[in-house]
Amino acid sequence: MGLHILGTGSFKPDGMLTNEDLTKFIETNDEWIRTRTGISVRHVATGEPTWYMGAEAAKSAIDAAGIDPVEIALIIDTTITQDYCTPSMSCIIQRETGAVNAACFDLNAACSGFVYAMDMAHRFLKTEPDSKYALVIANEQLSRITNYEDRSSCILFGDGAAAAVVEYKEDTLYSSHLGADGTGAKYLFAKSALPDSPFVDEEKLSYEWHDFSSAPEGSYPHGMKQDGKEVYRFATHAMPKAAKAAADKIGFELSSLDKIVPHQANIRIIETAMKNLKLPMEKVVVNIKQHGNTSSASIPIALDEAVRSGEIKRGDKICLVGFGAGLTYAAIIMEY
Ligand code: UT7
Repeated sequence: MGLHILGTGSFKPDGMLTNEDLTKFIETNDEWIRTRTGISVRHVATGEPTWYMGAEAAKSAIDAAGIDPVEIALIIDTTITQDYCTPSMSCIIQRETGAVNAACFDLNAACSGFVYAMDMAHRFLKTEPDSKYALVIANEQLSRITNYEDRSSCILFGDGAAAAVVEYKEDTLYSSHLGADGTGAKYLFAKSALPDSPFVDEEKLSYEWHDFSSAPEGSYPHGMKQDGKEVYRFATHAMPKAAKAAADKIGFELSSLDKIVPHQANIRIIETAMKNLKLPMEKVVVNIKQHGNTSSASIPIALDEAVRSGEIKRGDKICLVGFGAGLTYAAIIMEY
């Protein structure tokens, strides 16, 4: 009932945004950002589209897996910062990688996206016996939807991409738990950049359609708006809940995990969640200092870096666990 990761890859754009750089936009300082979030620097794209970052990560994962891309049966791209309404990012990545036999679609579960997509890949491969491999990519350019006038949120986000090539494998450790709480949608959102249609009725347009639709004031009308405290509260409960639910399904003891790869949102969120799970920080993969929060790309970037540095080894029992806008949460327990 398992999923085997054949190879991983990642791409980080060259642009770097340090805490010091942020002091030019907003009233803040390096010490506040480091102690409240654990972040020192983030990568930012300076012209390359989001699909390009995903395609580079995908090519690297395919290389690491050592497979022929024509044998990929499914591509799922997960993002909240797609370059186009249509075509999907996954179709563009198919074109770039030569995975000509793959079905392609995109998935939006915000920062939980990669974990959701890996679980969808598992379900697809399990029920399509002739399909060999799936390619899961997470690519994000949060600098395009960050409100750089809001000091409580703009310090968090960065850009990047990562990917994994996976195959279905019988008789190996696997369990997952996915969830969401749409009543928390108002705590973290970014308005679509789509213009109004030519058929708009001004009166209807002025209705209060949602309790969360007001865009940020100022220069970033499509920037993210977040209630940091509510998201923080949700995150510290949702990550332990997801990991425990996945473990309980198969009677697995979380203490026997070798490594946990959590969403890199805030070092204090990770520490509190691990305390709730009674898991030591030595088992946790943390790279937030160098990347900040890259939404759905954060877990696979951390995974790829841990694999390449030897921090995660073949046979390790790992847990991928995240939370995000929606609000969503997700965990997978598997063997690397
Ligand atoms: O993928 C999910 C994405 N989102 C998250 O994970 C967000 C989760 N939330 C958080 O990580 C934290 O709530 C934040 C990092 C956003 C904020 O940290 P906090 O410890 O909750 O700070 P706070 O909002 O309680 O603010 C404390 C103080 C305030 O000043 P006063 O009112 O106490 O005088 C803020 O105005 O810190 C001030 N402050 C800042 N000061 C310097 C807020 N942002 C900054 C800043 N630099 N960048």
